[in-house]
Amino acid sequence: MKVEIDHIGIAVDDLETALGFYRDLLGLEVEASEDVVTQGVRAHRLPAGGASLELLEATRPDSPIGRFLGRRGPGIHHVTLRVDDLEAALARLRAGGATLIDETPRIGAGGARIAFVHPSAAHGVLIELKETGR
Ligand code: CO
Repeated sequence: MKVEIDHIGIAVDDLETALGFYRDLLGLEVEASEDVVTQGVRAHRLPAGGASLELLEATRPDSPIGRFLGRRGPGIHHVTLRVDDLEAALARLRAGGATLIDETPRIGAGGARIAFVHPSAAHGVLIELKETGR
């Protein structure tokens, strides 16, 4: 199975100052911004080669990103890997004893089928698996 880095999600507490670094100083460009209302987050995608950085703003303090920021402050929130068959990837993880947050795929940003793997299975990193589409 092919596995590629899709994006790295970075929680930010102030989008304008984050853009002051990632856009104005590093030179990345914001390609798209999307509100994921159900998750209380606004995501801004900055392509960087074959992958992207995703700046994540909380739109509610009690949303997952809002709680992350409250607990740990800004920083890397998740790493998203593209897989060609999400069901097969989840089945292999489950068979290997990995703890999954999503036992079955759900719809994430951009309408893609995604599932999160618990950080306890991935050595402290929240992993999002995203299906490339069949
Ligand atoms: Co993401």
